[in-house]
Amino acid sequence: MLDWSDTSPNKVLNTLPPILTGLDSTGLGEIDRNGGRVSVDDKAMINCRADVNQLLPLKYKWAWEKYLAGCNNHWMPTEVSMQADIALWKSRDGLTEDERRAIKRNLGFFAASESLVANNIVLAIYRHLTNPECRQYLLRQAFEEAVHTHTFQYIVESLGLDEGELFNMYREVPSITDKAAWALKHTQHLDDASFKTGTPETDQAFLRDLVAFYVIFEGMWFYTGFAQILSLGRRNKMVGIAEQYQYILRDEIHSPEFRHRRHQSDQDRKSASVDA
Ligand SMILES: [Fe+2]
Repeated sequence: MLDWSDTSPNKVLNTLPPILTGLDSTGLGEIDRNGGRVSVDDKAMINCRADVNQLLPLKYKWAWEKYLAGCNNHWMPTEVSMQADIALWKSRDGLTEDERRAIKRNLGFFAASESLVANNIVLAIYRHLTNPECRQYLLRQAFEEAVHTHTFQYIVESLGLDEGELFNMYREVPSITDKAAWALKHTQHLDDASFKTGTPETDQAFLRDLVAFYVIFEGMWFYTGFAQILSLGRRNKMVGIAEQYQYILRDEIHSPEFRHRRHQSDQDRKSASVDA
């Protein structure tokens, strides 16, 4: 039987790490019964104490528009036919050995990398963002990353590939492991429960990790991978996977754009405080 006496807010809060308690930027703390209503000027991207559970009034309309654009892009991997890919993959001479190796390595890179991005959003970035409309977009993006991981499950299943081989490449193929390890290095820092933004040093550390993960890992290395498969598609090979990648690419285009706008908003905020 459940012990309902254990659910008193103070008891629950006492079990949370310090960063999740107090006047909180997470939205998980005690409700401020005497606090005033949130005004637009109270809201900020990071280091903000305005209630993060109140979406309105919007401050960053571009973030809300990114959320709507993401929703309008909705797709599922199972909508794409894999018949041509299955026939080509099973044919004896439709693909060279080099092309087969390149396809498998490419799939192996993405199969785990999409999960790394999802984990970065949900476990490392989300709690440091103190703006609800930006959080709304991140939640949408987290779902998109789940769809992207689903894509690789669907491809593995459709082509009858060895799932253990594909999903372990990020551990077993050194060139893939090195990329994943470099990206993870820039997640672990933010996932440290004692890490908090709010000083020039920690704000810069936060920005550095965002650039590492979303400009280099996702914005450059992912795009290299997309180009490999899209190049095959242009030669009428693995057209189903190429179509999936086009859908993924359409989602991913919003992600670096979002980071750029978020950084720009931070810069605008800093210049405004300098001018004041
Ligand atoms: Fe993704």
